[in-house]
Amino acid sequence: MRKFTVGVIGLGFIGMAHVEALRRLGNVEVAAVADPDSCEAKAASIGVQHAYSSYKELIDNEKLDAVHICTPNSTHFEIAMYAMEHGLAVMLEKPFTVSIDEAKALCEYAEKNGIIGGVNHSLRMNPMVMEMKALVQKGLLGDRIYAISGGYIQDWLLYDTDWSWRLDSKLSGKTRAFSDIGTHWIDMVENITGLRAVEVLAEFEIAHKIRKKPVGTVQTFSSSTGMKYTDFPVDTEDWCSVLFRFDNGAIGSANMSQITAGRKNQQIIDISGSEASLHWDNEHSNELWIGRRDEYNQIVVKDPGLVEPLAKRVISYPGGHNEGFPDTFKQQFRLFYDALEHNSTEGAEISLFRDGLREMIVNDCVYRSAMERKWIRIEEV
Ligand SMILES: NC(=O)c1ccc[n+]([C@@H]2O[C@H](COP(=O)([O-])OP(=O)(O)OC[C@H]3O[C@@H](n4cnc5c(N)ncnc54)[C@H](O)[C@@H]3O)[C@@H](O)[C@H]2O)c1
Repeated sequence: MRKFTVGVIGLGFIGMAHVEALRRLGNVEVAAVADPDSCEAKAASIGVQHAYSSYKELIDNEKLDAVHICTPNSTHFEIAMYAMEHGLAVMLEKPFTVSIDEAKALCEYAEKNGIIGGVNHSLRMNPMVMEMKALVQKGLLGDRIYAISGGYIQDWLLYDTDWSWRLDSKLSGKTRAFSDIGTHWIDMVENITGLRAVEVLAEFEIAHKIRKKPVGTVQTFSSSTGMKYTDFPVDTEDWCSVLFRFDNGAIGSANMSQITAGRKNQQIIDISGSEASLHWDNEHSNELWIGRRDEYNQIVVKDPGLVEPLAKRVISYPGGHNEGFPDTFKQQFRLFYDALEHNSTEGAEISLFRDGLREMIVNDCVYRSAMERKWIRIEEV
């Protein structure tokens, strides 16, 4: 097994999750980290020896095979390009970039120079998401999918005092609920069904048009007490309702929310086929419901001895031992480093730079639809 040496750039909520997941693989050493904010202290807290306040210094000074980019969205393009110009493979957090032009430039550079680039749509790696994909491929749902519904719902931005850099469109891009979590939902749905969304109709709601921005920094998903604030005008959506039309004629409907009290991080996918339907709710992520019209319904439980080979591929523990969010990162990175080892992404199942470009195209169409209040055709570029 080839050993890899990597650097992690951005050590906030998700950068820390990357470090932890990488260490579970066994063949990847996190040699260095970079973050302009308290990097030495963050590195020391997780036992990484080399800490840099600038990603350029990390890339220039370390002998690396790959970098993981876990920084705010607006910085993804420049960091990924710099890493690739230095010959490094890249695992980039979603959303891929903040524009189609940036996404195209990254894809073209990677393809021209034979660089493997992954986008961390890790939620694809949930065993029951893979099981849904395998069951659709087996024809369990019948010869047609009629409709797909669900959403991705959270509550961490419910109050006007909740703050994150994601509320600033200069850092996060022109959509928020959709690009932050909706892109995960549509990525999973397209990957499970093999269908492509070809048209979209979106409607946005900004619950707090003025938010209170704390004076000082706030970590993602943390709450704040005793803070001082300034008023901050918000121009991105807290809620996004979206209708899709897929390339087989199926209809899709989904809601994305960051303001639904009590829903911490719920993803729901419902697929209605001509013979059977599927329902998956990640709040019970190790179970998958199969609905039938003329027979008993079934609950599939995550068990490598029972599920389809595709799902088994992303399971590390026996039945009855739940696997969840951090495990999807481990599986995603395992398949990414397998692809690097064999210098091939054939059958890798993970999201790659091309999927990141697709993500940005859909995201742009959702935004234009909400702004123009009409159906928008999703064209490939
Ligand atoms: N795949 C997932 O499930 C998932 C979940 C959460 C976040 N994300 C994505 O991860 C990225 C980071 O989100 P987060 O929630 O961890 O944010 P965060 O605010 O918790 O952390 C971001 C970190 O990046 C650092 N940073 C900012 N600019 C930098 C630069 N130029 N170089 C190096 N470090 C820099 C910040 O100091 C901070 O420590 C975003 O793109 C987000 O969409 C993905």
